[in-house]
Amino acid sequence: MRLDRLLANMGIGSRRDVKKLITSGAVKVNGRTVKDAGLEVNTESDEVTCGGESVKYRQFVYLMMNKPAGVLSCGDGAPGVKVAADLVGDDYNFYDLSPAGRLDVDSEGLLILTNDGDFIHNIISPNKKIGKVYFIRTEGELSGSDVERFREGVRVDDEFTAKSAKLEVLKSIGGVSEALVTISEGKYHQVKRMVKACGKTVTYLKRLSIGGLRLDEGLAPGAYRPLTDGELADLKR
Ligand code: URA
Repeated sequence: MRLDRLLANMGIGSRRDVKKLITSGAVKVNGRTVKDAGLEVNTESDEVTCGGESVKYRQFVYLMMNKPAGVLSCGDGAPGVKVAADLVGDDYNFYDLSPAGRLDVDSEGLLILTNDGDFIHNIISPNKKIGKVYFIRTEGELSGSDVERFREGVRVDDEFTAKSAKLEVLKSIGGVSEALVTISEGKYHQVKRMVKACGKTVTYLKRLSIGGLRLDEGLAPGAYRPLTDGELADLKR
Protein backbone atom coordinates (compact mmCIF):
# COMPACT_ATOMS: atom_id res chain seq x y z
CA MET A 1 0.00 0.00 0.00
CA ARG A 2 1.21 3.53 -0.73
CA LEU A 3 2.60 5.28 2.34
CA ASP A 4 0.31 8.31 2.01
CA ARG A 5 -2.73 6.06 1.66
CA LEU A 6 -1.83 4.03 4.73
CA LEU A 7 -1.41 7.17 6.84
CA ALA A 8 -4.64 8.70 5.52
CA ASN A 9 -6.56 5.44 6.05
CA MET A 10 -5.31 5.30 9.63
CA GLY A 11 -6.77 8.74 10.29
CA ILE A 12 -3.52 10.72 10.44
CA GLY A 13 -5.04 13.30 8.10
CA SER A 14 -6.29 13.84 4.58
CA ARG A 15 -4.14 12.60 1.69
CA ARG A 16 -2.95 16.22 1.29
CA ASP A 17 -2.12 16.58 5.02
CA VAL A 18 -0.14 13.37 5.11
CA LYS A 19 1.81 14.28 1.98
CA LYS A 20 2.90 17.47 3.79
CA LEU A 21 3.83 15.46 6.88
CA ILE A 22 5.89 13.10 4.76
CA THR A 23 7.78 15.88 3.00
CA SER A 24 8.38 17.60 6.36
CA GLY A 25 10.33 14.50 7.45
CA ALA A 26 7.91 13.39 10.21
CA VAL A 27 7.45 9.89 8.79
CA LYS A 28 9.85 6.99 9.10
CA VAL A 29 9.68 3.52 7.62
CA ASN A 30 11.80 0.91 9.37
CA GLY A 31 13.66 3.69 11.20
CA ARG A 32 14.54 5.73 8.10
CA THR A 33 12.96 9.05 7.21
CA VAL A 34 11.00 8.74 4.00
CA LYS A 35 10.02 11.69 1.84
CA ASP A 36 8.37 9.75 -0.96
CA ALA A 37 4.59 9.73 -0.36
CA GLY A 38 4.19 7.06 -3.03
CA LEU A 39 6.54 4.57 -1.40
CA GLU A 40 4.99 1.10 -1.30
CA VAL A 41 4.94 -0.28 2.24
CA ASN A 42 4.21 -3.77 3.42
CA THR A 43 1.39 -3.28 5.96
CA GLU A 44 2.32 -6.54 7.72
CA SER A 45 6.06 -6.23 8.09
CA ASP A 46 7.12 -2.58 7.67
CA GLU A 47 7.35 -0.41 10.79
CA VAL A 48 5.83 2.98 10.09
CA THR A 49 6.03 5.89 12.54
CA CYS A 50 4.69 9.41 12.32
CA GLY A 51 6.11 11.98 14.72
CA GLY A 52 7.66 9.06 16.60
CA GLU A 53 4.28 7.30 17.09
CA SER A 54 3.84 3.85 15.60
CA VAL A 55 1.15 3.65 12.89
CA LYS A 56 -0.35 0.17 12.65
CA TYR A 57 -2.51 -0.63 9.68
CA ARG A 58 -5.87 -2.21 10.42
CA GLN A 59 -8.25 -2.96 7.61
CA PHE A 60 -11.20 -3.77 9.85
CA VAL A 61 -12.28 -2.54 13.26
CA TYR A 62 -14.93 -4.01 15.53
CA LEU A 63 -16.30 -1.89 18.36
CA MET A 64 -18.72 -2.75 21.12
CA MET A 65 -20.89 0.22 22.05
CA ASN A 66 -23.45 0.65 24.79
CA LYS A 67 -25.97 2.52 22.66
CA PRO A 68 -27.95 5.07 24.61
CA ALA A 69 -31.63 5.75 23.98
CA GLY A 70 -32.26 8.71 21.66
CA VAL A 71 -29.50 7.72 19.23
CA LEU A 72 -30.15 6.00 15.89
CA SER A 73 -28.08 2.89 15.24
CA CYS A 74 -27.53 3.94 11.60
CA GLY A 75 -28.77 6.19 8.83
CA ASP A 76 -28.40 9.89 8.29
CA GLY A 77 -30.30 10.97 11.38
CA ALA A 78 -32.96 13.64 11.47
CA PRO A 79 -31.93 17.17 12.46
CA GLY A 80 -30.88 16.99 16.10
CA VAL A 81 -30.86 13.16 16.19
CA LYS A 82 -27.46 11.55 16.49
CA VAL A 83 -26.33 8.32 14.90
CA ALA A 84 -24.25 5.79 16.89
CA ALA A 85 -21.20 6.28 14.64
CA ASP A 86 -21.29 10.01 15.56
CA LEU A 87 -20.45 9.02 19.15
CA VAL A 88 -17.19 7.43 18.01
CA GLY A 89 -14.21 9.70 18.59
CA ASP A 90 -11.30 10.37 16.28
CA ASP A 91 -9.61 7.17 17.41
CA TYR A 92 -11.93 5.27 15.05
CA ASN A 93 -14.27 7.72 13.31
CA PHE A 94 -12.28 7.71 10.07
CA TYR A 95 -13.54 4.16 9.48
CA ASP A 96 -16.86 3.79 7.70
CA LEU A 97 -18.73 2.15 10.59
CA SER A 98 -22.12 0.41 10.40
CA PRO A 99 -23.99 -1.64 13.00
CA ALA A 100 -24.01 -5.44 12.88
CA GLY A 101 -27.70 -5.58 13.81
CA ARG A 102 -29.78 -2.50 14.47
CA LEU A 103 -31.45 -1.21 17.60
CA ASP A 104 -34.46 1.12 17.63
CA VAL A 105 -33.83 4.74 18.50
CA ASP A 106 -35.41 4.27 21.95
CA SER A 107 -33.56 0.97 22.61
CA GLU A 108 -30.31 0.70 24.51
CA GLY A 109 -27.46 -1.70 24.88
CA LEU A 110 -25.08 -3.80 22.86
CA LEU A 111 -24.33 -2.49 19.39
CA ILE A 112 -21.42 -3.80 17.33
CA LEU A 113 -19.99 -1.22 14.95
CA THR A 114 -17.67 -2.35 12.20
CA ASN A 115 -16.50 -1.63 8.66
CA ASP A 116 -16.42 -5.37 7.83
CA GLY A 117 -19.42 -6.00 5.57
CA ASP A 118 -19.01 -9.80 5.50
CA PHE A 119 -18.97 -9.87 9.28
CA ILE A 120 -22.20 -7.81 9.41
CA HIS A 121 -23.81 -10.14 6.91
CA ASN A 122 -22.90 -13.19 9.00
CA ILE A 123 -24.14 -11.68 12.24
CA ILE A 124 -27.52 -10.60 10.89
CA SER A 125 -28.17 -13.56 8.60
CA PRO A 126 -31.16 -15.54 9.96
CA ASN A 127 -29.51 -18.71 8.62
CA LYS A 128 -26.74 -18.34 11.19
CA LYS A 129 -29.33 -18.45 14.00
CA ILE A 130 -27.28 -16.20 16.27
CA GLY A 131 -29.24 -15.67 19.49
CA LYS A 132 -29.72 -12.12 20.75
CA VAL A 133 -30.82 -11.53 24.31
CA TYR A 134 -32.89 -8.49 25.31
CA PHE A 135 -33.95 -7.27 28.72
CA ILE A 136 -37.44 -5.79 28.49
CA ARG A 137 -39.90 -4.05 30.77
CA THR A 138 -43.54 -4.20 29.77
CA GLU A 139 -46.77 -2.50 30.57
CA GLY A 140 -49.10 -5.43 31.22
CA GLU A 141 -47.93 -8.55 33.03
CA LEU A 142 -46.37 -11.33 30.96
CA SER A 143 -47.73 -14.75 31.87
CA GLY A 144 -46.91 -18.43 31.47
CA SER A 145 -49.13 -18.54 28.38
CA ASP A 146 -47.00 -15.79 26.80
CA VAL A 147 -43.90 -17.90 27.51
CA GLU A 148 -45.62 -20.74 25.67
CA ARG A 149 -46.63 -18.49 22.74
CA PHE A 150 -43.03 -17.31 22.39
CA ARG A 151 -41.85 -20.93 22.44
CA GLU A 152 -44.33 -21.92 19.74
CA GLY A 153 -43.60 -18.85 17.59
CA VAL A 154 -45.70 -15.70 18.01
CA ARG A 155 -47.97 -14.88 15.08
CA VAL A 156 -47.22 -11.16 14.83
CA ASP A 157 -49.49 -10.36 11.87
CA ASP A 158 -50.71 -11.83 8.57
CA GLU A 159 -47.24 -11.54 7.08
CA PHE A 160 -45.00 -12.53 9.93
CA THR A 161 -44.91 -15.38 12.40
CA ALA A 162 -41.80 -15.28 14.56
CA LYS A 163 -39.62 -18.34 14.95
CA SER A 164 -39.59 -20.07 18.31
CA ALA A 165 -38.14 -17.70 20.91
CA LYS A 166 -37.38 -17.82 24.61
CA LEU A 167 -39.26 -15.61 27.06
CA GLU A 168 -38.08 -15.74 30.64
CA VAL A 169 -40.22 -13.67 33.00
CA LEU A 170 -38.06 -12.28 35.81
CA LYS A 171 -40.68 -10.28 37.68
CA SER A 172 -44.39 -9.49 37.31
CA ILE A 173 -45.97 -7.10 39.73
CA GLY A 174 -48.39 -4.15 39.65
CA GLY A 175 -49.19 -4.52 35.96
CA VAL A 176 -45.50 -4.42 34.97
CA SER A 177 -43.17 -7.26 33.96
CA GLU A 178 -39.45 -7.56 33.50
CA ALA A 179 -38.21 -10.35 31.26
CA LEU A 180 -35.43 -11.67 29.08
CA VAL A 181 -36.22 -12.43 25.46
CA THR A 182 -33.94 -14.47 23.19
CA ILE A 183 -34.55 -14.33 19.44
CA SER A 184 -32.48 -15.51 16.49
CA GLU A 185 -34.10 -13.28 13.88
CA GLY A 186 -33.88 -9.51 13.52
CA LYS A 187 -37.07 -8.19 11.97
CA TYR A 188 -38.08 -4.55 12.35
CA HIS A 189 -39.29 -3.84 15.92
CA GLN A 190 -39.40 -7.60 16.37
CA VAL A 191 -39.45 -7.90 20.15
CA LYS A 192 -41.89 -5.02 20.56
CA ARG A 193 -44.21 -6.53 17.95
CA MET A 194 -44.06 -9.99 19.53
CA VAL A 195 -44.95 -8.52 22.93
CA LYS A 196 -47.70 -6.38 21.36
CA ALA A 197 -49.18 -9.52 19.77
CA CYS A 198 -49.48 -10.88 23.32
CA GLY A 199 -51.43 -7.78 24.35
CA LYS A 200 -48.66 -6.01 26.30
CA THR A 201 -46.38 -3.08 25.47
CA VAL A 202 -42.60 -2.84 25.72
CA THR A 203 -41.69 0.33 27.63
CA TYR A 204 -37.95 -0.36 27.90
CA LEU A 205 -35.61 -2.55 25.85
CA LYS A 206 -31.91 -3.18 26.22
CA ARG A 207 -29.84 -5.67 24.21
CA LEU A 208 -27.58 -7.66 26.51
CA SER A 209 -25.87 -10.06 24.13
CA ILE A 210 -25.31 -11.17 20.55
CA GLY A 211 -24.24 -14.81 20.34
CA GLY A 212 -21.60 -15.32 23.02
CA LEU A 213 -20.78 -11.60 23.19
CA ARG A 214 -22.15 -9.92 26.30
CA LEU A 215 -22.45 -6.17 26.74
CA ASP A 216 -19.57 -4.96 28.87
CA GLU A 217 -21.49 -3.42 31.77
CA GLY A 218 -18.46 -1.23 32.46
CA LEU A 219 -19.36 0.78 29.35
CA ALA A 220 -21.43 3.83 30.22
CA PRO A 221 -24.22 4.69 27.75
CA GLY A 222 -22.54 6.05 24.62
CA ALA A 223 -19.14 4.54 25.49
CA TYR A 224 -17.41 1.96 23.31
CA ARG A 225 -14.32 -0.21 23.14
CA PRO A 226 -12.75 -2.51 20.55
CA LEU A 227 -13.72 -6.17 20.76
CA THR A 228 -10.96 -8.32 22.16
CA ASP A 229 -9.37 -10.91 19.86
CA GLY A 230 -11.14 -13.63 21.87
CA GLU A 231 -14.58 -11.96 21.57
CA LEU A 232 -14.10 -11.54 17.85
CA ALA A 233 -12.92 -15.12 17.35
CA ASP A 234 -16.01 -16.38 19.25
CA LEU A 235 -18.35 -14.34 17.07
CA LYS A 236 -16.67 -15.47 13.87
CA ARG A 237 -16.86 -19.13 14.85
N1 URA B 1 -36.58 -5.65 18.87
C1 URA B 1 -37.18 -4.43 18.95
O1 URA B 1 -38.40 -4.36 18.95
N2 URA B 1 -36.42 -3.35 19.02
C2 URA B 1 -35.06 -3.37 19.04
O2 URA B 1 -34.43 -2.32 19.12
C3 URA B 1 -34.44 -4.63 18.97
C4 URA B 1 -35.22 -5.76 18.89
